Parts: sequence; structure tokens; C-alpha cells
Amino acid sequence: MFKIAVAGTGYVGLVAGVCLAEVGHQVICVDVDENKVNAMKSGLSPIYEVNLEALMQKNIAAGRIDFTTDYQDAYKDADAIFIGVGTPEQPDGSANLANIATVARQIAESIRKDCLVIVKSTVPVGTNDKVEQFIHDFLVHDVKVEVASNPEFLAQGSAVHDTLHAERIIIGTASKWAEELLMEIYEPFRLPIVSVTRRSAEMIKYASNDFLALKISYMNDIANLCERVGADIQDVIEGMSFDTRIGSRFLKAGIGYGGSCFPKDTKALQYMARQHGYELRTVSAAIDVNHDQKTILYHKASARLITFNGLKVAVLGLTFKPGTDDVREAASLANVPLLLDQGADVYAFDPAGTLNFSKHFPEGEHGNGRLTFATNAMEALEAANVCFIFTEWDEIKAVSPVDYNQRMRTPLVFDGRNLYEVEAMEQAGVEYYSIGRNS
Ligand code: UGA
Repeated sequence: MFKIAVAGTGYVGLVAGVCLAEVGHQVICVDVDENKVNAMKSGLSPIYEVNLEALMQKNIAAGRIDFTTDYQDAYKDADAIFIGVGTPEQPDGSANLANIATVARQIAESIRKDCLVIVKSTVPVGTNDKVEQFIHDFLVHDVKVEVASNPEFLAQGSAVHDTLHAERIIIGTASKWAEELLMEIYEPFRLPIVSVTRRSAEMIKYASNDFLALKISYMNDIANLCERVGADIQDVIEGMSFDTRIGSRFLKAGIGYGGSCFPKDTKALQYMARQHGYELRTVSAAIDVNHDQKTILYHKASARLITFNGLKVAVLGLTFKPGTDDVREAASLANVPLLLDQGADVYAFDPAGTLNFSKHFPEGEHGNGRLTFATNAMEALEAANVCFIFTEWDEIKAVSPVDYNQRMRTPLVFDGRNLYEVEAMEQAGVEYYSIGRNS
């Protein structure tokens, strides 16, 4: 078992740290935020993620994981250091590597024994080469240090499960030493390992995420066409999914992909391609379709109504998907401000995302409208004139067609997640609009 340090305690870093401890490694997680570190030391997870806190507490109790702000102490005698810090999108679409550079420099100044630095963060192709050079430039002690790429494929909401039961682990290394060490670190996971060069590993991450983003945008494009030609996207999905070359996952049409990864990684790859004089037309198309898809229901509703002014609008779901409190790039963030600007009285419900949403839009007056957070879906629907569904939480799926009819003043529902059968809504007397279906 190895002594491992992890830089960054967001989704990628913390989940990696906890899972590495779970399989028996000695792990120390480093973060600059002292309050966060103290909370983690007492077993509190800073992120909402199924099973993460329980696993954290188990491994703290077993003495296999600890948390610190003291990077020098954490890095000085580590066999391996995982970097899992954020690489946020910059205004031009490129990935911001400032966090990576900071950590690389701290590593260079701290390590006192041979060490493998493993980049888990999503970084543009070629970054690992640069990080290695950067560390060598700032290295204080005469030790061997190499950088390996090990992109992360976990999804929010199922992060622990995705890590412990990953379909594959990608390792990109530049030497036999690094390859063997990383394979040994991952050996206790007993999962398939694909070993490639660093640049290929970096590209696998973008190519995978962007393929999934493209798959979703393609289905949204087809859904929009279905509406125009009288086909039903749900039937089309079912028919396509039996083809094992296509597969059944990530075919769901809706109001576009959100979250911190697909929007950022599609733009980063497009930017990277342009830097090399190449236009990645497929990915650019996915970005365009997704941009328009987010407000497609708002425009449908605008066409149906004279005005939103003075209407009570129920918004069900604020997060970019269920199982997370994250609202980054969520459809709600694109639609709620439009509704408020138009003078709507918005009652929004989300089982976990209200706090994060309120950081962008707190309760109260905005423009010509007013925003209120409801404590459950029924409360949001009470006497509403219109309802928008943005996230497929179980709590929202539990609302029956009849509930819309009984609770709302006028049962007019715009569903971005195709949660209901068109016929069932019709029978319940609900005027129902969804994605890619004839409703
Ligand atoms: C995504 C990838 O799925 C992970 O493999 C990857 O590791 C991660 O990004 C990352 O780069 O860190 P995540 O963003 O957490 O994970 O969430 P997804 O479950 O992929 O969903 C992303 C968005 O796509 C959501 O808004 C979801 O509603 C939407 N989606 C997903 C669809 O519209 N249709 C689908 O069929 C599937």
C-alpha cells in the first residue's frame, strides 16, 4: 500500500481520496480552505454525494485518511500525489490551469523523495508534459519526479459507485516506472486498466465527454424534428436503443445538458482544435444545439401565452440533474431570469439545489417579477398558471397528472424531461407540452 496525497477536495479529489483510502492506501487530502479541512476532519463532506460521507467517516476511523492545509507536510514524503483541482472555463472557452500550476509549484517545492504526480483534472492535451517541465523547473530537492495522466470519469450523483466500479481506468504515462507504479496503486480496485501515452489519455477524457454531449445534442435535434414531422422521440429512443452499436444510455432528449463538465469540456475541445487551426464541426454543432435547447420550453410557453406578467409560474427542479445540489449550467439558470424579467411570480421547488440557486437568484423581487422557494412540489403548484419541469427528481416524478389539474389554477405544463405519458396528461385534463412528442 502507498502513501498518497491528494490536492483538491472537490468532486474529483475528495472522491478519489476516499476511494483510495477505502482500498487500503494511506491518504492525506490537501485543501487551502481551513474551514473545509476542519469539517472534513470531523467527517463532514463539503459536497452532497451518495455514500461519500459514510465512507469518509469509515476511513477516518480506520486511520487511513486525513485532511490538511499544510501541503508541504502532505507532499514531502508521498509516493504519489493526485491532482484533482478545478480547471474552470475562461471567457474564451479555454480551460483555466491556474490551480494546476499552483499545485505543481507547491509540489516542486515540497517533495523530498521520488514521487509520481498524477493529474486527474480534465486538462488540454499536452498539459501533463508542461506540468512535468514546470515541476522540474521549480524542483528544490534532487529527487525523481514524473507526471502521469489519469482522467476521471465519475458522474455527480453516483461518484463513489463510479469510482469503485469504474468501467475502465485510463492511465497515460511516459515511462515504465510511472506505468507500473500507477498500475500497482490501482491494483486493489481490480478494474480494467487501459495504459496509453499521456496525450492520448488527456484526449480520451475530452473525446468521451464530448461524444456524450454530442449524443445528447443529437437526440435533442432529432426530438425537435420529431415534433415537426409527427414522430415521437420516446418511440424513436426505444427503437434505437436495441441497436447495441448505439446503446441505450445517454439518449434522453430534454432541455439540454448542464453541469460543470459537458458545457466546459465541449468548449475547451473546440478552443483547443481552433488553436491548432482545426474546426471541430461536430462539437460546435453540439454546443449550438445545446444553447438553443435550454430555453426551448420558455419559447414554446411564450408562443402559447400572451404574457408571463402577473402569472404564477411553478418551476419544478433547479439542479442540472437529480441526485446533486449543483446548479451549474442548469436549464433553470437560463429560464428563471427570463420568466422574472417578464414579470412572472416564480415559485420554485428543488429537493437539494435551492441553496446553490439562491446564490445566483435569492428569494425576492427581480426585475419585474418575484422569486419564492417552495418546500415541496405541491406548494409550488398551488394556484399556478403555468408549470415548467426542469429536473427529473423522484419527488417531482411523484406528482401525478391529476395533481397538476387539481392544484394549478390552469393546468398548463411544460415538461423538459418527458416525465409523463402524453395520453395520461390529456386524460387528466392537463394541457401538456414536452420534448419531441406531439403534445
Ligand atoms: C459527466 C460524465 O457523465 C462523466 O463521465 C464525467 O466524468 C463528468 O462529466 C466529468 O467530466 O467530470 P456529470 O456532468 O456529472 O458527468 O453528469 P451526467 O450524468 O453526464 O449528466 C450531464 C448532463 O447531461 C445533465 O444535465 C443531464 O440531464 C444531461 N443528460 C444526460 C441528458 O440530457 N440526456 C441524457 O441521456 C443523459
